[in-house]
Amino acid sequence: MSKIKKRVLSGIQPSGKLHLGNYFGMMSRMINYQDENDLFCFIVNYHALTTIQNKAELEKNTINAALDFLALGMDPEKSTFWVQSDVPQVTELTWLLSNMAGVGLMERSTSYKDKIDKGLSPHMGLFSYPILMAADILLYGSEIVPVGKDQTQHLEITRDIAMRFNNIYGKGLLVVPSPDINEDTMLVPGIDGQKMSKSYANTIPIFADEKLIKKSVMSITTDSAGINEPKDKDSPLFKIYSLFLNSEEKNILSDRYDTPGLKYGDVKKELLSKIIQYFSPYREKREYLLKNIDQVHSLLDLGRDKASKVADEYIKKIRDAMGLNY
Ligand code: ADP
Ligand code: TRP
Repeated sequence: MSKIKKRVLSGIQPSGKLHLGNYFGMMSRMINYQDENDLFCFIVNYHALTTIQNKAELEKNTINAALDFLALGMDPEKSTFWVQSDVPQVTELTWLLSNMAGVGLMERSTSYKDKIDKGLSPHMGLFSYPILMAADILLYGSEIVPVGKDQTQHLEITRDIAMRFNNIYGKGLLVVPSPDINEDTMLVPGIDGQKMSKSYANTIPIFADEKLIKKSVMSITTDSAGINEPKDKDSPLFKIYSLFLNSEEKNILSDRYDTPGLKYGDVKKELLSKIIQYFSPYREKREYLLKNIDQVHSLLDLGRDKASKVADEYIKKIRDAMGLNY
């Protein structure tokens, strides 16, 4: 008997160059899930409008994010891979769900509060961001949502909205999703030790020019431990390097950190060559796709058609339940 596949969905903002945090926290996990699951993956360009308000930049970032995903192994035949704004039904659902989202709940959103703390003057897009994300997830009946740790609260808001909807309009109408967070990769540190993020300028980009990758790796913050002192394993260099190692290799690195004589500069050079080597086949694939950009557009059209079909079914069911199909 064939196993029923779970619907797994996640999205990424085209708000800058994708980085190792995105790769290990979400992208590689999604790509690995393709065989066993019914995978839905998209570039969330409506969300990116909350920070990017420049036509050329948003267009470029969107196509770059698609290229990155495809180069890294996203298979649009096997999975459903599209650009969020190609299925605009999600904006209708955002409105419908905003009536399930308490203002207090939204005000407690840490991503909203963080942006305000950074001095961004808030607009309603930023405030409603989690409702659009809930609509993304609920429009496709998603069961599992692979994300990094920073998205935990957004998933809680989504679950809250879905349960409130089901309480009012009928049990089981919306699928209440579960987050899928991996302990080892949920919080990849940036080169300064904070969470790696496009918005903190502390990233190691996956497909940047090799010189830029080198510059980022060489700037990873280290302490001033002397050459013969044990080195700090609770540090960004150790943690980032570990992402590329199996458990045996990690033990070896750990022993080297405990042994006098280790130079951080040498570890950085090793890490750099690991990164370059690891991504080199994907880099070639990306270059091929870039030269055949029409193929990329066709693949995104295919994704749009597949996603629209599911979105149409769900939105009809939801409109019916709410009394909009009089
Ligand atoms: P960014 O913070 O760089 O803008 P996004 O918000 O677009 O990244 O995140 C896309 C996906 O990558 C999300 O699932 C997010 O949780 C994950 N992610 C982002 N940064 C990291 C990180 N440093 N460690 C682990 N996962 C991350
Ligand atoms: N908010 C997510 C982030 O910044 C991106 C996102 C939008 C998303 N819609 C989603 C993630 C739906 C998972 C599911 O990373």
